[in-house]
Amino acid sequence: MKVLVAYATRHGSTAGIAERIAGRLVNDGVPAEALPVEKVRDVSPYDAVVLGSAAYMGRWLRDAGAFAKRQREALQSRQIWLFSSGPLGRDLVDKDGKNVLVNSRPKEFGELQSQLKPKDTRVFFGAWDPSSPAVGIGERLMRLAPVSTGALPSGDFRDWDAIDAWADDIAATLKGSPRTT
Ligand SMILES: Cc1cc2nc3c(=O)[nH]c(=O)nc-3n(C[C@H](O)[C@H](O)[C@H](O)COP(=O)(O)O)c2cc1C
Repeated sequence: MKVLVAYATRHGSTAGIAERIAGRLVNDGVPAEALPVEKVRDVSPYDAVVLGSAAYMGRWLRDAGAFAKRQREALQSRQIWLFSSGPLGRDLVDKDGKNVLVNSRPKEFGELQSQLKPKDTRVFFGAWDPSSPAVGIGERLMRLAPVSTGALPSGDFRDWDAIDAWADDIAATLKGSPRTT
């Protein structure tokens, strides 16, 4: 049994979530490794896949969608979980009274849910540091736009307890199910 935690990231915080999930799975007795999607050529060595991406403007990063498309058949024959790293801040309810984690589900989840039949999908709070040299002018300007003001707080809002608990659920499911390959 080996699990691949494949991820797409722009600024690294989703990589941190993926590595945390892989580390937690290993602690739970399930061999796992985290790799960026662009480094994964073949998923055949893995029995299960956790696929995650950062969300920007309501969508996953292109590399994550491309990976899901490229590996569709292999993913369909494996147990798969999807996560998105997204909203910034700690409020669970937005100004319109909507659940932030539900409202931040990326567009790709709908299609991938019907294609890949994931065991579970999850949105985690993300992180953003606008002072990082890696943040380009486009993102800086977007933050200043009236529509985004107040909507893009900077900071690290990743909820490690929620991430660990999700990894524990995955480990429990995998330990209770027969090998798929
Ligand atoms: C310009 C910009 C747009 C964003 N758009 C969204 C979005 O539509 N939905 C969302 O949940 N998070 C959004 N975020 C938050 C990012 O998803 C969050 O910062 C994430 O943790 C980044 O992951 P990364 O460091 O792996 O790139 C946005 C952030 C920025 C800077």
